[in-house]
Amino acid sequence: MQESFANNPQSELSTGESHSPAGGNEWRLTSRVPTQVTIGHLRICPPLFQAPMAGYTNYAFRQLLRSLGGVGLLCTEMVSARGFLELDRRYQRLPDRLWGVRDEPRPIAVQIWDNDPHKLAMVAERLVEDFDVSCLDINFGCPAEQITRGVACGAYLLRQPDDIGEIVSAVVKRVSPVPVTAKIRLGWSDQEINAPAVAEVIQQAGGAAVFVHGRTAQQRYRGTADWSQIAAVKKRVQRIPVIGNGDIRSAQQAVTAMREFGVDGVMIGRVALARPWIFREAAALLAGLEPPPEPPAEEQYEMLLELYRQLESYFGSVKAGILMRSFASRFVTARRGAKRFRVLIHSSKSSADLLAHLRDFFLHNPES
Ligand SMILES: Cc1cc2nc3c(=O)[nH]c(=O)nc-3n(C[C@H](O)[C@H](O)[C@H](O)COP(=O)(O)O)c2cc1C
Repeated sequence: MQESFANNPQSELSTGESHSPAGGNEWRLTSRVPTQVTIGHLRICPPLFQAPMAGYTNYAFRQLLRSLGGVGLLCTEMVSARGFLELDRRYQRLPDRLWGVRDEPRPIAVQIWDNDPHKLAMVAERLVEDFDVSCLDINFGCPAEQITRGVACGAYLLRQPDDIGEIVSAVVKRVSPVPVTAKIRLGWSDQEINAPAVAEVIQQAGGAAVFVHGRTAQQRYRGTADWSQIAAVKKRVQRIPVIGNGDIRSAQQAVTAMREFGVDGVMIGRVALARPWIFREAAALLAGLEPPPEPPAEEQYEMLLELYRQLESYFGSVKAGILMRSFASRFVTARRGAKRFRVLIHSSKSSADLLAHLRDFFLHNPES
């Protein structure tokens, strides 16, 4: 997936207009900043959501986030409903993306995708009955060609709000009272921005919350997330929570987003791959406390090592090594020596080699 993402904690969120939220480092909380949010019967506290990220938000990464604290609700990577049914029927197997879901602490959300209301409802029901998931999220935001133009799913459906309504309604009917949420983008393109209308359809169909990534599908990850458009969704949808998402890079920005744009919570993605402790920092700010200090390099190294151990226990050393390269590349974002480190890990011949580079970077690198 192509994306542009400058890891600059001081930069402001984009409004697409001339006004911008208060920047700087002075953060005084007002009563307008929510400290919890209710999604169906679930109380999410703090209202900080981990964004689903394919290739990353597997069980191992979620456990790292849990151990650091501050996340209100964690979510799996997107799981194909069709893939689930096919694997189950042919091989009596489960998608790898459901690794750990059955046993990990609650609450946990599973994100599913497809365009067939019946298949989605069937899978949702299995996830509730066999896995006891706390919440089901439906993906209407994925902009990848193979998902949109390829199979008419993900963000492609933003052009067909009636289909979105039918899907949400079918899933809600099957799994109620387990909350069903939906993740959307602003629209298909700049000319087709319809997130407020889509969110209203989701609310009408019984959806329990809507997550809005402030970009269009055509933008993919280019440009900046437009938070004024997210605020427009919040204005239009009154009965269910609206959670904003896009380009939050610091704990302070998470709080600013809630205060300035009136959203009920924020969802954080890419920056958590580089600074997984961002949630506990934001949670502290929301509670009116000083954020805890950044973990020292040794602790950061231990986090990555434990991540590798968990990945290896499930996927074996070869796949764990491949996944670990992506994690480690993201983790060193905006640090000195990151470029050289990435070259080294991408040319490493084995997992042992890769782990040695990790060790050097964190433990023997005065620049890190
Ligand atoms: C590598 C990667 C994988 C992603 N996978 C998913 C996914 O499986 N489901 C989904 O709804 N969004 C997915 N997203 C989008 C994120 O959930 C989020 O909306 C986006 O990254 C913007 O938030 P951020 O600026 O905080 O990262 C993915 C994003 C990235 C970078």
